[in-house]
Amino acid sequence: MLKRTADIRKTTAAPATLAAHGVDARVRGPVNTPVQRASTILYDDVTEYENRHAGFYDRVIYGLYGTETSFALAADVAALEGGGQTVVTASGTAAIALSLTSCVQAGDHILIADCVYGSTRRFCDEMLRRFGVEVEYFDPLDATQLQVRFRPNTVAVYLESPGSHTFEVSDVPALAAIARKRSVLTLMDNTWGTPLLFRPLDAGVDISIQSASKYFSGHSDVMLGTVTVRNPELYARIKDTVGRFGDHASPDDCYLVHRGLRTLDVRMRRHEANALELIEWLQKRPEVMRILSPALPTDPGHAIWKRDYAGMSGLFGVVLQPQFEAVRRSLFSGLKLFRLGSSWGGFESLMVPAAPAPVRHHRPAPDDGFLVRIHAGLEDPADLIADLDAALTRAQRELG
Ligand SMILES: Cc1ncc(COP(=O)(O)O)c(C=O)c1O
Repeated sequence: MLKRTADIRKTTAAPATLAAHGVDARVRGPVNTPVQRASTILYDDVTEYENRHAGFYDRVIYGLYGTETSFALAADVAALEGGGQTVVTASGTAAIALSLTSCVQAGDHILIADCVYGSTRRFCDEMLRRFGVEVEYFDPLDATQLQVRFRPNTVAVYLESPGSHTFEVSDVPALAAIARKRSVLTLMDNTWGTPLLFRPLDAGVDISIQSASKYFSGHSDVMLGTVTVRNPELYARIKDTVGRFGDHASPDDCYLVHRGLRTLDVRMRRHEANALELIEWLQKRPEVMRILSPALPTDPGHAIWKRDYAGMSGLFGVVLQPQFEAVRRSLFSGLKLFRLGSSWGGFESLMVPAAPAPVRHHRPAPDDGFLVRIHAGLEDPADLIADLDAALTRAQRELG
């Protein structure tokens, strides 16, 4: 049995060291926890069988609830999150859906930031509403608006910052404090920042969610999610919900994400450096109306981002002049390094058209231009700039 440190908060290691070593640095044998696949777990005697099953699912009792591979990953993610306990889920989408499901029952009311990832919105609108939960959206930049939306039956506030596609930055500590004062739980999707750039639990959030399919894995070949909390009862509730739904994190995928964590810090720094170079270049282009990134001093979210975040990731938005929508085929076809595909957080650069506008209730997404989402990968930035230059030139040529 591998050894794990129970209270990660006692660790003094810097985040980069934690990511590289994890909390099992003293373990002998293979450097990374090997893949342990299992459904049935065998016991030597009935007393041991009964004792192990009497406890909670935090030990290897049946493959569904985890094996050494997923527990090792969970321990390291909890360390990166600044302490607590982590549940690993089959995807980021599962992490979101199962966290929310753990917090609500029929008749409850939840407040959701208007800038959330599309599938989060769909889960709330199409699933939670069906089961009698009242779902209301609020402007993630307006703390006063959040205050007045609380009802006697409000049980949870859900945040995502920066917002999907639009990259607005919420004052997470302030919003979490407002919710906490009313004994309402706060959940946050922190996939953009990862705990290396921002630690939601330190900011007062109760449930920190990651799509581990993105930066944690880093190679665009894994689906996984993580949910981290510091309250042991909340952890038990989430772990139980995940078990009841039969959500299973594959040990092979856990292994890959665990391996991905080892290089997370160095990858995040390169994503940031590349994104900043691309932004600097794009800002000077006549085709570009605006860049959506809190790293820009002119961005409305810059001050809060600078206060709360240790850096930026590789994901940002570009609002092109509206006429570029008509020539988007020229823009996207012929790209050599940037690939056209959903998701982000891998080593490769991506570019996709983004259209969040129709689903926003409060703060409309930019509709004065053609919004494109860029993920800066790990390539040489000069090559990426050459690819973008060729794409914009192709599109300009078609416009005439
Ligand atoms: C911000 C954000 N959260 C969560 C998810 C969902 O994660 P997964 O793709 O692992 O289900 C995504 C996917 O694109 C995302 O962009």
